[in-house]
Amino acid sequence: MSVAIPAEDPRHIPNRAVVNPAAITHNTRAVRGLLGEQTALMAIVKADGYGHGMLTAARAALEGGATWLGAAHPASALALARAGFDVPIFTWLYEPVTAAAVLPEIIAAGVDVSVGSERMLRMVSDASRAVDGRARVHVKIDSGMGRNGVIPSAVAGLGSAIREDDHVQLVAAWTHLSSVDDPEDPETDRQVETFDRSCAILAEETGPVPLQHLANSAATISRPDLHRDIVRPGIALYGYPPLPMPEGVRLRPALSITSHLALVKDVPAGTHVGYGHTWTTPEDTRLGLVPIGYADGLHRAASGEVGLVVRTRTGDQIARQVGRISMDQIVLDLGPESKAQSGDLVIVLGDPSAAVLDEGTVPTAEDWARAAGTIPYEVLTSVSSRVSREARA
Ligand SMILES: Cc1ncc(COP(=O)(O)O)c(C=O)c1O
Repeated sequence: MSVAIPAEDPRHIPNRAVVNPAAITHNTRAVRGLLGEQTALMAIVKADGYGHGMLTAARAALEGGATWLGAAHPASALALARAGFDVPIFTWLYEPVTAAAVLPEIIAAGVDVSVGSERMLRMVSDASRAVDGRARVHVKIDSGMGRNGVIPSAVAGLGSAIREDDHVQLVAAWTHLSSVDDPEDPETDRQVETFDRSCAILAEETGPVPLQHLANSAATISRPDLHRDIVRPGIALYGYPPLPMPEGVRLRPALSITSHLALVKDVPAGTHVGYGHTWTTPEDTRLGLVPIGYADGLHRAASGEVGLVVRTRTGDQIARQVGRISMDQIVLDLGPESKAQSGDLVIVLGDPSAAVLDEGTVPTAEDWARAAGTIPYEVLTSVSSRVSREARA
């Protein structure tokens, strides 16, 4: 038997993830501005809206011009449908054990579902029959990513099975690009060629394929020729374009993480900080303790690399995180002149324009990612359930 832990009171939690829905709306509108009239925008809100809260992200993206929603897991797609979003919802990642329970529900709810093998088609078809429905399916072509989807040599077989099946209706063909964040990589054109060839084979079996989609954020930004009928941006909507946006278009990071200084102390030169004593004060200085650590989602691999903003009585300052990131806490070198006190607000991550100083700005998910040797996607989706979340402009 599992016992639910009572919800914690956000007033008791020092670390906050504040989501700005207006930034997601702004970013969606900016991305929408890159598209022709005939192309629709499917906002990707998987992984709890890249850590921003799925329903908050979906609502904000629809406000900015998205007309589709996409989530990897059927359970998320069902939650979107139940929340009453009156737009097509698409989901693509399931396995037989949980699919038996969830597919009938999502098909009854009108959610579009991906099919990448004849086995998946049978699962969808059985579920459709069980609810006396007709599933809207998107055929996933594995054009070179080597993950989900049907390989080109098996497309005709899948196409003829779709044609023969009254419980499914072909809505689209789609694929996912592995390397489009590197505009020089010839793999993108190879994948597009494979996708187009597969779509032609599919159409020979099924008749015209109504819709095509293959562009993530990077392709949406850099390859207008790949926009086709629908684009599927995710990360750009949250303010982190993987490639530069056109001149004059700025996206805004939508997530900030704040905390407060728990303890401030003046220490002499030669003071060791943290596990393994990886950092030692080079001079007399003021240290600040922040009650946030890797259990909240900071990456330990980023230890000692990132400057955080501390909002002191006399103004903002940047203070570098020093020593190892612990499970629950980090230490900042505030410097000998600092006026910081315990209780002062600390901006751990956010929109750089929230504090612009001579020494730097508010660190972004990009800064944390670079320091940890990872990508902003991982930083954003790592914020743990111990952090209290709120949506606020
Ligand atoms: C199938 C699919 N489409 C679109 C996206 C959005 O990609 P991005 O966040 O790079 O825009 C993802 C995310 O990885 C995805 O898995």
